[in-house]
Amino acid sequence: MKILITGHRGYIGPHLVNLLHEHGHQVTGVDIGYFEACAWESLPAADREIRGDFRQLTEADLEGHDCVCHLAAISNDPMGDLNPELTYTTNRDGSIELARKAKRAGVSRFLFSGSCSVYGKGEKLDLDETATLNPVSAYAESKIATEREVVKLADKSFSPAFLRNATAYGHSPNLRIDLVANNLLACAIARGDIRIMSDGTPWRPLVHCHDIARAFVAFAEAPAKVIHTQAINIGGNDQNYQVRDVGDAVQRLVPNAKIVYTGEVGSDPRNYRVNFDRFQQMFPGFKLKYNLQTGLEELLAKFREHQFGLKDFEGDQFVRLRALKKHLA
Ligand SMILES: NC(=O)c1ccc[n+]([C@@H]2O[C@H](COP(=O)([O-])OP(=O)(O)OC[C@H]3O[C@@H](n4cnc5c(N)ncnc54)[C@H](O)[C@@H]3O)[C@@H](O)[C@H]2O)c1
Repeated sequence: MKILITGHRGYIGPHLVNLLHEHGHQVTGVDIGYFEACAWESLPAADREIRGDFRQLTEADLEGHDCVCHLAAISNDPMGDLNPELTYTTNRDGSIELARKAKRAGVSRFLFSGSCSVYGKGEKLDLDETATLNPVSAYAESKIATEREVVKLADKSFSPAFLRNATAYGHSPNLRIDLVANNLLACAIARGDIRIMSDGTPWRPLVHCHDIARAFVAFAEAPAKVIHTQAINIGGNDQNYQVRDVGDAVQRLVPNAKIVYTGEVGSDPRNYRVNFDRFQQMFPGFKLKYNLQTGLEELLAKFREHQFGLKDFEGDQFVRLRALKKHLA
């Protein structure tokens, strides 16, 4: 197949480029390059590279592709708070327009990188896809608005689907340490302590960034009727953690690091434990390759290989908000 990925030079994208190549697909990549200079390992090249804003893509750019994997976004809550306008125009308006153009260009499948953060302040535990959406950020609102508009475009020749990914963690050639598990491990290595900014009780579902990319491949290759208009939680039931459990998992790997509750964010309103049964039912053969333990072990080895230290932890390279601020300035 010929597959176009937006945001292929971010954190998740490089895994997806590699996997699609391994599966014999031809890849077009589109990325504006916000975090290009942040990569700590070389990024895989797409067969065709388009450097620029996905919002400028024309129907002619999209023609001839079988599937769009739309990853490009202002990709977390703090960046959304920094610039809600950029979040809405990119994540919501840009994504809806891209789906419309893809449909007009005859692309038959549109896979959107959504987020479990749409559940936000979870009203109950084990939230499935029918649960009330309770967004607490511009980022999460932008993901919901996109799902709601893009699903309306579905017809017999256009199949959109929405991957509501758990919070990612683990190694990527373009690492981020602004994600909870990566952050706590990075802190342990760089500072010798594990600084938890809430009281540690909020629930978060976690999934390795490589497994998110594998889910995209599964959605790209599945029969259209399996994925048509589906909004699906991507992760595993046994990979829901309270933040304090993530701290404990990090401490088992870096035993000298002390756990410190800084309480600086007060009580974190984002609290969601998620149910992933539907994903399992859709793809019974799909097993997550990583769990938190194996993903953290691999990342720890990478931190050591790259001699990750305090300067890295406190610098701009691995924190999207800081890198984006620098880029926009
Ligand atoms: N990382 C997570 O925990 C997580 C969880 C759930 C969902 N997601 C979603 O998955 C997607 C990828 O996340 P990530 O962690 O790889 O993010 P990332 O910030 O590392 O990468 C995003 C990429 O998109 C590019 N981009 C941003 N705006 C663009 C534009 N207008 N035109 C072209 N390129 C643009 C950036 O340059 C960057 O390379 C995002 O949509 C994100 O919201 C991520």
